[in-house]
Amino acid sequence: MLRNIPVYFALAILAVSCGGNSGDSGETASDDKDAAVTEAESAPAVAEGNGRALYAPCVTCHGANGEGNMALNAPGIAGQSETYVARQLWEFKKGLRGAEPGDLPGAQMRPMAMALADGEAIADVAAYIASMPATTPPVTIEGDADNGERLYVSLCGACHGGKAWGNEALFTPRLTMLGDSYVVRQVKKFQEGMRGTHEDSTHGKQMALMAKTVSDEELNDIVAYLNALAAE
Ligand code: HEC
Ligand code: HEC
Repeated sequence: MLRNIPVYFALAILAVSCGGNSGDSGETASDDKDAAVTEAESAPAVAEGNGRALYAPCVTCHGANGEGNMALNAPGIAGQSETYVARQLWEFKKGLRGAEPGDLPGAQMRPMAMALADGEAIADVAAYIASMPATTPPVTIEGDADNGERLYVSLCGACHGGKAWGNEALFTPRLTMLGDSYVVRQVKKFQEGMRGTHEDSTHGKQMALMAKTVSDEELNDIVAYLNALAAE
């Protein structure tokens, strides 16, 4: 199928860029870690440490359990890949993400990342966020989840994983707990060049390529499928 070509093209780029990056472990995200998608009120697995204290100012927007807040455009972040979270915080801090004109939610998040003093603070808060159990976001977008499943499997699953739990080895985030309106907004940002355009945003560029393979309607169907996966 012609539409699958960009996936393999992007995967090829991914393979090349991974090869040159010895700092990243080839470890694959373990599904076991995500097996316990538990109630929002259960306590995080790692409850102590600097990361927890650093997370305090984040609660206003991302919630005490990292469940996010759609009214504030803040995604669910609990259970997200630690390396992905750390990378996004660096991207916000350095202005590779959230600095484009018109990116208002990104502009709200940027100063929060800039307030994290250094790499150690970023690593600690990322570890805390990753330790919280992933939550189930509210459903705000209707779509055809069956069609979404077909689209997801052919266009997204190779990188984001069969259950959309992300894949450390491919630098991809978990998608199930983000929240449907956030997912749609991010894919549009990638399509419109508001994210993943900076030359240093290596992984963002891969996703920007993929974002251009879906229409608005297809995207709604895909998020309906992500909502179904989150509810499992
Ligand atoms: C004022 C509200 C607000 C606060 C406080 C806040 N954030 Fe955010 N955060 C946002 C918004 C809005 C976004 C989505 C930005 C976008 O649309 O690109 C976001 C995005 C993120 C992302 C990217 C998630 C992803 O899936 O790519 C991470 C990671 C993050 N925030 C971590 C934090 C941390 C850590 C703190 C505390 C140090 C924090 N945030 C505090 C509003 C906030
Ligand atoms: C070639 C591999 C690849 C494919 C295929 C792919 N993605 Fe991605 N995606 C990525 C990478 C890598 C990132 C992380 C980008 C970054 O670090 O900024 C990403 C990020 C995202 C994000 C941002 C998540 C967040 O937390 O902000 C969304 C949403 C997303 N992808 C959705 C999709 C959807 C929907 C599809 C299918 C239409 C898809 N992706 C296909 C590699 C891929």
